[in-house]
Amino acid sequence: MSKTIIITGGAGFIGSHLVRLFVNKYPEYTIVNLDALTYAGNLENLKDMEGRPNYIFEKANIVDAAAVQALFQKYQPDGVIHLAAESHVDRSITSPLDFVYTNVVGTVNLLNAAKELWGPLPASPAGGGARFHHVSTDEVYGALGSTGLFTEDTKYDPHSPYSASKASSDHFVYAYADTYGLPVVLTNCSNNYGPNHFPEKLIPLMIHNIINNKPLPVYGDGNYTRDWLYVIDHARAIDLVFHQGTNGEKYNVGGFNEWKNIDLVKLLCKQMDEKLGHAEGTSAQLITYVKDRPGHDLRYAIDATKINRELGWAPSVTFEEGLSKTIDWYLSNTEWLEHVTSGAYQEYYERQYMH
Ligand code: NAD
Ligand code: DAU
Repeated sequence: MSKTIIITGGAGFIGSHLVRLFVNKYPEYTIVNLDALTYAGNLENLKDMEGRPNYIFEKANIVDAAAVQALFQKYQPDGVIHLAAESHVDRSITSPLDFVYTNVVGTVNLLNAAKELWGPLPASPAGGGARFHHVSTDEVYGALGSTGLFTEDTKYDPHSPYSASKASSDHFVYAYADTYGLPVVLTNCSNNYGPNHFPEKLIPLMIHNIINNKPLPVYGDGNYTRDWLYVIDHARAIDLVFHQGTNGEKYNVGGFNEWKNIDLVKLLCKQMDEKLGHAEGTSAQLITYVKDRPGHDLRYAIDATKINRELGWAPSVTFEEGLSKTIDWYLSNTEWLEHVTSGAYQEYYERQYMH
């Protein structure tokens, strides 16, 4: 069935993998990538999508309600998959308002545009009808102690300005479902890693610093724990929930793959030494313990049983494989990394789209 789907944030890390998956898997769909191209948006992530007949890029800011309304009128989407966000916790600590504008106001602008276009609708059956899919994070649940898992019923308890803004956006999505009958689904995912990850986040930053023989900054004592998932597996989960998830429901997505930061960094150092032909222990010498992140959440761990049981989703890549593939991608895409660190990637849109 032909559909038009707006994917917001498609030039970012996860969004670019999702756009590629949808453009390739659903040639009968029109995929509109709506992205403001902030520092995190990089059209070099989607070079291979240019010229594809079912792919359109629209540069627009979701904080601009009129621009969002105009694009919804222009494309009349049947579905929205909303990923555009300010995504980095450390930036939220220094600039919390940016997170309120994009993550909260921007989300409400999209919800309004969808509500006006679709009107009050009865719950759409899985696989048909209009649908707003909100892509969220496990950070809305707060922090765990040394045991336990986040389930879909875990009470929201966000701590950072980033997670507070994402929790707020989740609540608005539910509010639009309850108040206006908007057909929605949500996914709350753990830490992603893989190609095209901006090198401000732990794994790509460490890879970048090892390549450049720079210190590897580990916050606090390094005993903070995250659950890691290969980005393609997250895109597969979004595809399943968007098409087959139950209306009004949320699904946790995670890798059942917990790592203490320091152990992860040591594994990464070991794999990098092997791939670079360095003596074992060379990269680990760069590990430097630095000042902790304020309000640092001790541990995240996801119970992804529901999406497995109801939709048959499971991660397809083990962590060792995924990390190895990720390192290989960075080592063979040094131009991408160089453009990101020099800022050259931000000129790509003007060069490719403005004449
Ligand atoms: P990212 O920072 O790599 O990309 C965000 C994208 O959104 C960029 O292309 C950026 O240009 C765009 N954007 C930002 N502000 C915008 C605005 N005002 N208008 C339009 N576009 C704007 O983010 P990511 O890591 O790919 O995360 C994508 C989504 O998934 C986010 O909603 C994030 O909260 C969620 N999420 C991320 C992870 C993770 O580990 N990265 C895990 C769970 C959930
Ligand atoms: O859990 C999902 C979330 O994962 C997403 O919602 C966020 O968008 C995404 O950025 C990510 O948040 P984290 O804060 O967990 O990711 P980050 O890569 O910034 O940090 C991972 C862990 O590593 C965290 O405990 C902080 C630590 N860290 C991070 C950096 C950048 C360091 O020790 N040193 C670093 O230099």
